Amino acid sequence: MNSPIPITSNNGDTYFHLEPLISGVSLMDFSCPVQEYNDYLTQDALRSRDDHIALTWLLYDLSTGGIIAYMSIINDAIKLSVSEKELHNLHYPFKTIPAMKIAKLAVSQSFSKTYKGIGSFMIDSARGLAIDCNTDYSACRFLTVDADIENNASILRFYEKNGFILNSEMNNKNRKTISMRKDIFA
Ligand SMILES: CC(C)(COP(=O)(O)OP(=O)(O)OC[C@H]1O[C@@H](n2cnc3c(N)ncnc32)[C@H](O)[C@@H]1OP(=O)(O)O)[C@@H](O)C(=O)NCCC(=O)NCCS
Repeated sequence: MNSPIPITSNNGDTYFHLEPLISGVSLMDFSCPVQEYNDYLTQDALRSRDDHIALTWLLYDLSTGGIIAYMSIINDAIKLSVSEKELHNLHYPFKTIPAMKIAKLAVSQSFSKTYKGIGSFMIDSARGLAIDCNTDYSACRFLTVDADIENNASILRFYEKNGFILNSEMNNKNRKTISMRKDIFA
């Protein structure tokens, strides 16, 4: 059996195509390890789009037409401590800095034997959307995520490998998620 094809930001467009979720797309074959994320895609993603709560993007496999991964994107703003502002060289008096949040992210298990690095490609794609947003519409400096440690105890490592760091705000021992950020322009 062939080993999985390593996907990077350079070759992803050869294999994949990213587009917003539209009505009528069959989502039932999508299956990631966390059922909550499958249910969100099939039951809530379109409704959230229609209510302007979250915009879901689907990653299609060009060779089979299957849905490899999805992410839901929303606008965000994060508070930075004095030292965090120092770290990012953001010397502004504002309490919050604009951001774009990956509110949901999941990769279908069906494609894990074919490709490697799909989740990371989705992060790169979200960064690409954020850069386009900065160019065309409005500013955002960070990608953010509430890393779901309740469903996936080791998930911080995935985000850290993709350049996210912990936020000092919104993190305490009892939370089910951990707030993280990635400087889009670092
Ligand atoms: C989390 C998820 C999106 C990662 O997708 P993926 O395609 O497996 O990720 P990648 O292949 O790009 O992984 C990049 C690196 O992170 C590591 N990694 C991925 N998931 C990890 C996890 N849960 N824990 C620790 N490390 C992880 C990989 O081993 C890889 O490391 P390497 O570069 O040293 O080989 C996917 O497993 C998933 O859909 N999980 C279920 C839903 C979920 O938990 N979503 C996140 C909610 S916050």
